[in-house]
Amino acid sequence: MADLIIKGGIVLTMDGAFIDNGTVVVDNGLITFVGKDTKEKADKVIDARGCAVMPGLINAHTHVPMTLFHGYADGLSYGEWIKKIQLAEMNLTPADVRSGAYLGVLEMIRSGTTTFADMYFHEDEVAQVVQGSGLRAALGYGMIEGLNEDAETKLKSREKFAKKWKGAADGRITTMYAPHSSVSCSKEFLIRVKELAARDNSRVHIHVLETENELKTMKERYGMCSINHLNSIGLLGSGVVAAHCIWLSDDDIDILKDKDGNVVHCPSSNMALGAGIAPVPQMLEKGINVALGTDGAASGGSLDMWKEMRSASLLHRLKDPRAMPAYTVLKMATVNGARALGINAGALAPGKLADIIVVDIKKPQFMSPNPVSALVHGASGCDVRTTIVNGKVLMEDRRVVGLDEEKIIRDAGYAMRNIIE
Ligand code: NI
Repeated sequence: MADLIIKGGIVLTMDGAFIDNGTVVVDNGLITFVGKDTKEKADKVIDARGCAVMPGLINAHTHVPMTLFHGYADGLSYGEWIKKIQLAEMNLTPADVRSGAYLGVLEMIRSGTTTFADMYFHEDEVAQVVQGSGLRAALGYGMIEGLNEDAETKLKSREKFAKKWKGAADGRITTMYAPHSSVSCSKEFLIRVKELAARDNSRVHIHVLETENELKTMKERYGMCSINHLNSIGLLGSGVVAAHCIWLSDDDIDILKDKDGNVVHCPSSNMALGAGIAPVPQMLEKGINVALGTDGAASGGSLDMWKEMRSASLLHRLKDPRAMPAYTVLKMATVNGARALGINAGALAPGKLADIIVVDIKKPQFMSPNPVSALVHGASGCDVRTTIVNGKVLMEDRRVVGLDEEKIIRDAGYAMRNIIE
């Protein structure tokens, strides 16, 4: 007897197969069968007729508590935006961070994200929210050198966090080291981070060349850009998750390819802040693993990965309509995200983690001979009917299980009012 069977939907495995009227079987947190039909019985059966059944979406770069800053600094230049946000962040309490994390986790469950990669402060609060909510996450305690504590204290506390939460919540939590950027952390500091990450077998999550200003500062400070800098200290491999990567030269792209680095594209945030356009089609053409992320909701305004997919597709088609096939975009939000974060998810196949979503496609916008294109360009989080993580149903028929939605929204409202005051 299996735990769960999802049957009758169009199964989009992201492993190359579309199975009409297909079946997915889940047992003990893992997918055990994907195919046409099975004689197996289960404790619970989900009828997915009229729906697409697919791997849960992976948000590979965010700062989830920043949901508290929805629209707070909207319409400002990057410099003004960051100043206003950082000033408000100085007053955030652990309880505020928890409220923001709950708000974000609720939005993610409701919009079909099953894993997110996060970087923020008071990250223990985020970890506890992940533990209680049932989502999967790769968490890094953010590090800006010289902010609040000395480098040694900071490294020690981040090491403690990484060790404490690694593999927690039935393995749903993995930890990373999260130095903010090569501008906000010195070379010596980043070398220490690299050593810690290597010793703990952890990934490193870092912002890379998000702004032209970072490029200028790095050239002035080190005579080279962040990619060359990180490469020179050995901090650019398959275990590195580099968010943004906008201001890259052709040589930088070659280095990223050569080192097998992971990039996270965050088009909504980049557009909202006028940060620039990452050369994603060129990176994909070289075979670099490019995942997708929303960044914090203070810039792009949402943690809905469907909106992010649509943005990614359309932004690059502005230059060349052939640049971003819809299936490639869907892969960025699933398969590529899983590879970037080193988790055994992102596709539906026996042996994979049972992180699955059921999307209602009995709607006008999905009437199409090309269901993938219709999903990427027409879907929003509201179309996700059911969200499953680790074989557990977190939302069924739009009803979130195990979270008090009213309280989450009320608490976040209080925290937001405190920020404004
Ligand atoms: Ni970011």
